[in-house]
Amino acid sequence: MQLSYRTKEQLIEDFAEQTGWLDSSLDIPTEEIGEFFSKRTEGYDKVMMDYWEDYKTIPDFLPTQFETMLNLGCGCGFEFEVISKKYPDIQVVGIDKSKAMLDAFRQRPFFNKDNFKLIEADYFEYPFEKNQYDVVMSAESLHHYKFEKKKEIYKKIYDATKQDGYYYELDFMSVNNDFEKLNLDYYEKRREKYNVPEDVFVHIDIPLSLEHQIELLKYAGFKKIELLNKPFLKSYTVFLKASK
Ligand SMILES: C[S@@+](CC[C@H](N)C(=O)[O-])C[C@H]1O[C@@H](n2cnc3c(N)ncnc32)[C@H](O)[C@@H]1O
Repeated sequence: MQLSYRTKEQLIEDFAEQTGWLDSSLDIPTEEIGEFFSKRTEGYDKVMMDYWEDYKTIPDFLPTQFETMLNLGCGCGFEFEVISKKYPDIQVVGIDKSKAMLDAFRQRPFFNKDNFKLIEADYFEYPFEKNQYDVVMSAESLHHYKFEKKKEIYKKIYDATKQDGYYYELDFMSVNNDFEKLNLDYYEKRREKYNVPEDVFVHIDIPLSLEHQIELLKYAGFKKIELLNKPFLKSYTVFLKASK
């Protein structure tokens, strides 16, 4: 896949910057992913305001009308600050591992028990209802998992989405396979350094390349994958829409 949005010079700069950060990250002990976010619930919105420009566009791309949404890694519901304004009546099932993040979601002014069902669970383990949702969505959650692990979740997402429904992903992705590999190499080094058991998932960013991301969605069965933003123009956030 040819992506020409970032110049060669910018890419070289990005690599150097990322390598520097990854080198220093080796001295930071790993934290289980749910616990990581629980500890950082307070102040989460403030950090995420850096990405507000990306979040703001979400409602522009959702269907004009829909009734049901499954949200994976909904956290404290940051994306619903914009979604709920445009779609106040949708029925949402949100899944997240972090109790503290879900508790913060329940404090949002738009939260109400009739429209939001929040489930504290690991989305890899939790069974999703099949053929149930007009929209399945995940924002900034899945870039912590490797290709093989993600294969499982995209199959489940595919099955949960209605035949005429869509899957949306707003997430951190790698501009190319070299950038993906750079992050993965450090992921392995850091896990090894802190003796992380195989079945424990920690908070380390390992964004897949857009090419691999699209491959996974196609492998799950999605026929059409659309790029909704211009990835790698300013940030590394990509907004994808997948149709059956
Ligand atoms: C960066 S936050 C994103 C939250 C929200 N979607 C947003 O865009 O602001 C990532 C969230 O994914 C959750 N998460 C990560 N892995 C998970 C898993 N396997 N099962 C459930 N939740 C998970 C974390 O607990 C965290 O709340």
